[in-house]
Amino acid sequence: MGTTIFAEMSALATTTGSVNLGQGFPDTDGPREIAAAAAAAVMAGRGNQYPPGPGIPELRQAVAAHQKRCYGLDVDPDAQVLVTAGATEAIAAALIALLEPGDEAIAFEPYYDSYAACIAMAGATRVPVTLRPPDFRPDLDALRAAITGRTRLILLNSPHNPTGVVFTPGELARIAELACAHDLLVVSDEVYEHMVYDGVHVPIVSLPGMSGRTVTISSAAKMFSFTGWKIGWVTGSPELVTAVRTVKQFLTYVTGGPFQYAVAEALALPDDYFAAVTADLRAKRDFLCAGLAGAGFEVYRPAGTYFVTTDVRALGHADGMEFCRELPRRAGVVAIPSVVFYDNTDAGRSQVRFAFCKQQHVLAEALGRLARAGRGEAGLGD
Ligand SMILES: Cc1ncc(COP(=O)(O)O)c(C=O)c1O
Repeated sequence: MGTTIFAEMSALATTTGSVNLGQGFPDTDGPREIAAAAAAAVMAGRGNQYPPGPGIPELRQAVAAHQKRCYGLDVDPDAQVLVTAGATEAIAAALIALLEPGDEAIAFEPYYDSYAACIAMAGATRVPVTLRPPDFRPDLDALRAAITGRTRLILLNSPHNPTGVVFTPGELARIAELACAHDLLVVSDEVYEHMVYDGVHVPIVSLPGMSGRTVTISSAAKMFSFTGWKIGWVTGSPELVTAVRTVKQFLTYVTGGPFQYAVAEALALPDDYFAAVTADLRAKRDFLCAGLAGAGFEVYRPAGTYFVTTDVRALGHADGMEFCRELPRRAGVVAIPSVVFYDNTDAGRSQVRFAFCKQQHVLAEALGRLARAGRGEAGLGD
């Protein structure tokens, strides 16, 4: 699914010289002082040998301090934090630890592509609840209806990739109530927690009844623009973190020793850093959304993440996959057909995702190309 299309689209971007707004990684690195901290750790011999299984104490303390500073949450750095090889490993270890064969895991689709794979690796069954345009709000009646006697957990992702929806405190409270009423676990992927432009990010673990049943996941990848470092983390009750660590031990055992020192410093950056990241991306969101609307796309303006979902029916196309395969040659721009994030493919057939975690001039170039192609003889329509 997703992984294949990313490879195909990136290859197309290269062969056609297209501007790649497909895959979600920034085209500039994170703060220089944090990169320098990683280099200094390597040269000082800090973390070059296997770091402690749960992660270095400095990073676990920094994660706990971040949860306290941002959300007022008390997290014990020794018993309630686990450092992982990115959020990707955290998701895999959590799902393999918490799901048994035959269990059902509910996730809102469209979903990040590793969810389906990891639920399958755990021998469990995924049960999608579809987020629908134009606003992609979670349908909580559908969520309730999806719960059966075999449901073990709800896999949440807010801010949500690819739709950019940010669940409201009220929606999260109702999801938490359902989890408590049916004694479900929640695995909450919060990697875009600092990329909220409208509304507010609320960790579901902070809601009544949730502290003993929530595994919270985040990562330095998006927060600090170091996606190649693969440093993520899990927080949760000591019991849940122990369960996840037991699986993690046999996936990677440990990861990225020197980078852990650098990420510990990054998490202590002042509030201004996080505010600046948000402000920069908010401006880019506005720029890309306006440009795409101008080029004739129906644009579903995201409240968070660095993705914008569009619908290409407004351009006369029924099929986002075909549209994305043609777009590089037609306009010199690469985007991702959102259908790859759905089980219910009819729901996502005409949606196309663009990433805006790119330099301003790159976004401008992409929009210029789309506008020119739209004005050209073939146009962007069918
Ligand atoms: C929703 C979501 N979760 C997890 C990840 C993976 O994070 P990491 O790079 O830290 O493994 C991504 C990356 O795109 C993502 O979009």
